[in-house]
Amino acid sequence: EDPANPKKVLAVNPKCTHEGCDVKWSAGEKKYECPCHGADFAADGKVLKGPASKALATYPAKIVGDRILVKV
Ligand code: FES
Repeated sequence: EDPANPKKVLAVNPKCTHEGCDVKWSAGEKKYECPCHGADFAADGKVLKGPASKALATYPAKIVGDRILVKV
């Protein structure tokens, strides 16, 4: 892989913005689901369904070789 041309990826903080439960990625539905009160988030962290009203926190990240570097 060319280190000068890293693939762009997005690291998503899995803490629900409602009350802080850990959201789970649903591969079938391509979204994050919160087990506590049922909020849904898109792959980029945006709110799809309440009660959460704020998007999940995301961090810029990139793939370098076989590592993923996350900027926090
Ligand atoms: Fe996630 Fe309430 S903590 S919906």
